[in-house]
Amino acid sequence: MTDIPLFILYGSATGNAESIAKDLAAKYENNVPSPFNKVVICPANDFKKRCLPVWEHAPPQHIAKKYGLVFVTSTTGNGDCPENASRFIRYLKRTTTAESLPLKHVAYGVLGLGDSNYDIFCANGIVADKKLQDNGGERVVELGKADEATGLEEVVEAWVENIVPLLEKACAPSNIRIEEEEKKIDDTPMNVAVGSRPSVQSILNQRMGLVPRSTQPTSTDPGAMAGSRPNVQALLSRRNVSSNTTTN
Ligand SMILES: Cc1cc2nc3c(=O)[nH]c(=O)nc-3n(C[C@H](O)[C@H](O)[C@H](O)COP(=O)(O)O)c2cc1C
Repeated sequence: MTDIPLFILYGSATGNAESIAKDLAAKYENNVPSPFNKVVICPANDFKKRCLPVWEHAPPQHIAKKYGLVFVTSTTGNGDCPENASRFIRYLKRTTTAESLPLKHVAYGVLGLGDSNYDIFCANGIVADKKLQDNGGERVVELGKADEATGLEEVVEAWVENIVPLLEKACAPSNIRIEEEEKKIDDTPMNVAVGSRPSVQSILNQRMGLVPRSTQPTSTDPGAMAGSRPNVQALLSRRNVSSNTTTN
């Protein structure tokens, strides 16, 4: 069976990021959410052995669109990276690395831990979040910035609750995405005129930027009603002709 891991990496100097990452892994280890089928947790510096061999190849697209990655990292020193993630960050910062887009098959989220009393709050989280994207990763959520000065848990709890469901969604194979869209359309209230509801394909096209939003019919556009063909009144009024006018 092909492995579709949910990777949980951490960079931690005094243990906070490590224990958040380990708690998250423990939550899902025995109940791995689809499309993933295993959880891999390790310090970020183990990425060469644990991650790169997997990231090199796209997952089978009928099973998963991407691999998932959660990176929990603190900042230490004066805006520095913790020792156990330093090789990973150095790797991401190299221009030669970025050119090969090693994270093009990865969807990710970064949780940064810091302390706003320091000059550069969450510096390492900020760098990691940007570099993962520069290297081809698909960011699924905004960088979490947990502040030791006000209490880490304020940000950590909500971020940790949301990240795996967001990755599940981003990594699900495309056919599941289409089913989700179809369900949303089926759930559209019936008081919307038949024919004004966009097709699944048109929604996907629009999301992929293939169809400009302005060309999509809306319920206020006469063209959107009754099967998207404008009615006679609308056509006539566009030509400044009253519907009472008759022509021979
Ligand atoms: C020596 C030291 C330096 C730190 N430097 C920074 C910093 O530059 N920026 C920041 O936002 N937080 C900084 N912090 C705060 C830590 O990132 C924060 O305490 C975090 O929770 C530590 O997580 P960890 O135990 O996983 O390393 C520093 C903490 C220590 C002890």
